[in-house]
Amino acid sequence: MTKKRLLLAGMEDYFETWRRAADSTAAGLDLVPYVPGQAFPGFPYLLIWRPVPELFASLPDLRVIFCLGAGTERLIADPSIPARLPLVRMVEPGLTQCMVDYVLWRVLYHHRRMWELEEAQAQARWAQHLYPAAWERKVGILGLGTLGQACAEKLAEFEFQVRGWSRSPKSVAKVACFAGTETLGEFLAGLDILVCLLPLTPETKGILNADLFARLAPRAALVNAGRGGHLVDDDLLAALADGRMGSATLDVFHREPLPPDHPFWLHPRVFVTPHYASETHPPSALVEIARQIERFEQGATLEHVVDRQRGY
Ligand code: NAP
Ligand code: GLV
Repeated sequence: MTKKRLLLAGMEDYFETWRRAADSTAAGLDLVPYVPGQAFPGFPYLLIWRPVPELFASLPDLRVIFCLGAGTERLIADPSIPARLPLVRMVEPGLTQCMVDYVLWRVLYHHRRMWELEEAQAQARWAQHLYPAAWERKVGILGLGTLGQACAEKLAEFEFQVRGWSRSPKSVAKVACFAGTETLGEFLAGLDILVCLLPLTPETKGILNADLFARLAPRAALVNAGRGGHLVDDDLLAALADGRMGSATLDVFHREPLPPDHPFWLHPRVFVTPHYASETHPPSALVEIARQIERFEQGATLEHVVDRQRGY
């Protein structure tokens, strides 16, 4: 079988990892690195993560753009990407499983107030504390898409009271589903832990703000694994200072890497992870890309195509 050629652009540091993954799977893909200034006629498929200057002029035969990640806001904002080309966001089991691990870990961390034990251990202090049962905790997930839904199902399996919020109505077993802006208040009311897994769009930018924090249970916890642009940093710092919010895990930031002088780094109840919640797993991602290419070549509709007007 002739291998399909997939051009990788702007991923120089990771190219060898991806090539090894391609060699180790039966995806049937031949990965080729993009070289700036060189033309790539005859390449219909491209994999990119961030905008690459001058890329599209060198790809006259391009037919599908695959985004390396689930969040495509940077590519949507790039005017050099031809609007006629389908842009496919990443949906693959490795990315989903890693996010489920991360969200479960961070929800359990806040649920059990683990930092109190860590502080106590640093002082060799035996400090038991009481905590509610999982079924007494209300956990909400903003965004019930591929990732949010998988996380909601896992948290429900752990007996948390789970709610989810999306744009269109959903039905997920053991999860109370809310849809649309008009239900946001009801969704948020009294949540103990809020997880953000929204895409960054004009509607969701700044959604994690003082008004939203005021609707949660007192001393609630926030886990933001969506994008830094969802959070109003100063509102979170103020809410932590006045006790409205209790703690937060933040994985994504307005500027990445998070600047060394940002107050989040040294805040005793803010737990920073370096945009590490989840990542695309090359072997399973390549199998998924190959499946989509197969569909495309057979004339079937591509899945997970981004709606650029909607922003995700
Ligand atoms: P997805 O499948 O497109 O899901 C997005 C969800 O958000 C959908 O349920 C959608 O509602 C909902 N939504 C979007 N705009 C909304 C609005 N205005 N009001 C209410 N709900 C809205 O995306 P995904 O694959 O789950 O990924 C979600 C995000 O996670 C990505 O965009 C990215 O920012 C982030 N992410 C972060 C990491 C990390 O390592 N930190 C890794 C991967 C992804 P509908 O279902 O009704 O469309
Ligand atoms: C990572 O942040 C992604 O969007 O996949």
